Formats: sequence, structure tokens, C-alpha cells
Amino acid sequence: VTISLEERRLRWLAGQFARPTGWTGRWLIAPWLNRIGRAMNRLTLEQLDLQPGDRVLEVGFGGGELIELMLAFSPAAIEGVDVSPAILARAGRRFAGEGRVRLQLASAETLPLPDAAVDKACSVNSLYFWPDPVRGLAELARVVRPGGRLVLTFEPPEELRKWAGHRFGFRPFEVGEVAGLMEQAGFTDIRPIWGTGRKPDVFCALSGERSGDNG
Ligand SMILES: C[S@@+](CC[C@H](N)C(=O)[O-])C[C@H]1O[C@@H](n2cnc3c(N)ncnc32)[C@H](O)[C@@H]1O
Repeated sequence: VTISLEERRLRWLAGQFARPTGWTGRWLIAPWLNRIGRAMNRLTLEQLDLQPGDRVLEVGFGGGELIELMLAFSPAAIEGVDVSPAILARAGRRFAGEGRVRLQLASAETLPLPDAAVDKACSVNSLYFWPDPVRGLAELARVVRPGGRLVLTFEPPEELRKWAGHRFGFRPFEVGEVAGLMEQAGFTDIRPIWGTGRKPDVFCALSGERSGDNG
């Protein structure tokens, strides 16, 4: 079986979107992700409703544009986790000297934070790549304090499938499925807010409140 050049290109690009690597990931893909994610980041920011003094977590922060936007809202702390060393290296440099930002190499399902560590958490265009979304959501429920907020922003399957590269490692999620995962993990009052842009044309920010206590 021969793999066409186009298929190779798509596979490579899909791999870079899922986990940017090396110099290409750091200098080419990361800024590109910022452009693709611009409208999604803005919708996420609105839904987070950040207040001065909030502690907030972003899972899969990529080029770091949302972290930059969040800093303008005077948070007490921004925690970021990402699985890509290239992304960590880039963002480490970008936010060097910013004492409120702490970035760590970690995956969604093993968050290196204590229980109820943050008031708010978010993740944009990253869920498709998590090896275990159920555990990832359970971890988010553990680290968001009761009464706190989670915002997950992603492209619905019909939008994701417009790009042929989605076949290589993207797991599409229906909005109802993500809402179910959030509910199962301990979030309530789950609301979808739809956003529009250009590539992606349509996306959804699902927000929910962490219910009860963290016990
Ligand atoms: C398509 S990029 C999106 C980046 C950014 N949120 C944006 O919208 O521009 C996906 C990001 O999620 C990260 N990622 C993938 N799997 C992850 C996981 N299991 N846990 C945490 N981050 C992950 C990747 O390294 C990458 O930075």
C-alpha cells in the first residue's frame, strides 16, 4: 500500500496539532494555533467570566494566546498544563518573569494540582486528543472548587470533518456527549454557547458549574 504525499502531509499536520513537536511545533505550529483558535479563545474568555483574584487553569494552552488574554483580567494565578515540551518551551519564554503564570508538562488525566486549587478551568480545541476523557473530566472536577466553573470549547463533529486530516488522531465529540461527561464528572447547569468564525466556522463552548463538595 502506498501512502500518497497528501496523506503524509495530513498525518504530519494532524500530529502537530495534537502535540506540537520540535522547532516546527514551537515556531510554526504554535503561532498558527493562536490564529486558528482566536475566535474560540475569545468565546471561552467570555464564558469564564473572570474576576480579579480568580485562580484559573488552562489545559492544552498551545500558543498561549488565551493565557495572554486572561492576564488582562487581574487573576491571582494562571495554571497551564500541556503535553508538548515544544509548547512548554515556547510559552515558558513568552511568560518568563510573569509570576502569576505557572506552566507544567502534564496530561489532562493527571493534573499536577491539589483538590479545589482553582476557581475556573478551561480547555480549547484539545479534548479530541485526550487519551481518557472520562478521567480528564474527573480530574477537572477535582481541581475546580465547588461553585467554580469549567469551560470546554471545541468544534462539533460536522465542523471537524471538513478538514480531511481529522482522520488522523482527532476524536470527534457531539455536544451532548461532552455535556454528559461533564455531568457525570460533577458539573451542573451545563450550557452550550455557539460561536462562529472562519475556519472553524462553528464551534461550541460548554460551560458548567462544579457542584457540591470535592469529597
Ligand atoms: C489543537 S492545539 C490547541 C491549542 C490552544 N488551546 C488553541 O486553541 O489554540 C491542542 C493542544 O492540546 C495539547 N494536548 C494534547 N493532548 C493533551 C492532553 N492529553 N493533555 C493536555 N494537553 C494536551 C497539545 O499539546 C496542544 O498544545
